[in-house]
Amino acid sequence: MNFFHYVKDELHCEEVPVREIAEKVGTPFYLYSHATLSRHIQRFRQAFAEVPHLVCFSAKANSNLAVLKVFIANGAGIDIVSGGELFRARKAGCDPQKIVYSGVGKTDREIREALAADILMFNVESEQELEKIDAVAGSMGKKARIAIRVNPDVDPQTHPYISTGMKKAKFGINIKQSLDQYRKAAALPNIEVVGVDCHIGSQLTKLSPFTDAIAKIRELVRALQNEGFAIRYLDLGGGLGITYADETPPDFEEYAKAVIDATRDLGVTLVFEPGRVLVGNAGILVCRVLYTKKGEAKNFVITDAAMNDLARPSLYGSYHGIIAVDKSITETLTADVVGPICESGDFLAQEREIPAFRPGDLVAVTSAGAYGFTMSSNYNSRPRVPEIMVKDQEILTVRQRESLEDLIHGETIPENL
Ligand code: LLP
Repeated sequence: MNFFHYVKDELHCEEVPVREIAEKVGTPFYLYSHATLSRHIQRFRQAFAEVPHLVCFSAKANSNLAVLKVFIANGAGIDIVSGGELFRARKAGCDPQKIVYSGVGKTDREIREALAADILMFNVESEQELEKIDAVAGSMGKKARIAIRVNPDVDPQTHPYISTGMKKAKFGINIKQSLDQYRKAAALPNIEVVGVDCHIGSQLTKLSPFTDAIAKIRELVRALQNEGFAIRYLDLGGGLGITYADETPPDFEEYAKAVIDATRDLGVTLVFEPGRVLVGNAGILVCRVLYTKKGEAKNFVITDAAMNDLARPSLYGSYHGIIAVDKSITETLTADVVGPICESGDFLAQEREIPAFRPGDLVAVTSAGAYGFTMSSNYNSRPRVPEIMVKDQEILTVRQRESLEDLIHGETIPENL
């Protein structure tokens, strides 16, 4: 459910015509709907209302401060994977007791900063990391709360690049070895074991990988509880998928029912790290057609947005809808939608039947709110695009378009060159 819709033939974000925003801020730009963001977090939390839970929005999906703030204001915490995301979470006003820290390569400095901030818990991904956290905590006279990220070895049935819970993945500790690691953690002086964590992959469109993972993890939680571990948190990660094209992922209520049924008797607070499902369909990328051209084998629509702005199609072959901001274009054509970057892999869509765009037409690339701006870059020295949020009919610039000066920020030409 989102608030991008046509009024007559004009695409609107909530009550505001997208064309009006494009005229105001120029193209390309990311556009987020505040009402969609808040509806998603409220509905997600509502679905788990009957059990103790904490929703930590996964900042990697969209780390704009204003977006984080919408979730924080609705009671969410933040799932971080770097010192940079810790910085953002805190700038957005997140209670450190609602921050969980995942990732396989936390540095000494990042661990120290997270301990100084007194975050809720570290999701530990290796034995060496466990020892490192213990050592850093000891040097600060602190105790670190941890969960071990266990790898349950289930196939999430999603794109291989975003599958994380299988044997061959770099993530987590194999569930079979995890009990030993927990015993080891219990013996470390500066570690307090508080939870069990897992995240099996992203853009999951079925419930079964989640329930398969929980079935395995339940056993571990029970075994730990039997050994006297006070497991307070069961962090089930993120991963719930969205509709990009014709996928039919479970809705929040179906997901919640399956999870609650499988965990109710464990006596834990459930932690979630949803990213995509909260922001993906709350954002679009708006761009303008520069040129169209008829190649020998293909048609091309060349837009002012490129793979540096939205990397997912090039990187994963991902599908994003390509729709007209002015729907009165009735004819269609089959074309590749490409950007100005000097790479053949620079496309937003390939061989797609789309409206017969002409130069100057506005194009909306849909479902771009997750892993859109956060994965954008300055490749080809293209300034990153602004992020705009519509709230209560207001057009809010929540990140400015980068300037040419921003492109060279921090660079110097040494005098002896
Ligand atoms: N928790 C952990 C530990 C994660 O690694 C991730 C995503 C999430 C939570 C959030 O997952 P979500 O709810 O968004 O599925 N760039 C890729 C997605 C990479 C996902 C990485 N980890 C894409 O554009 O599809």
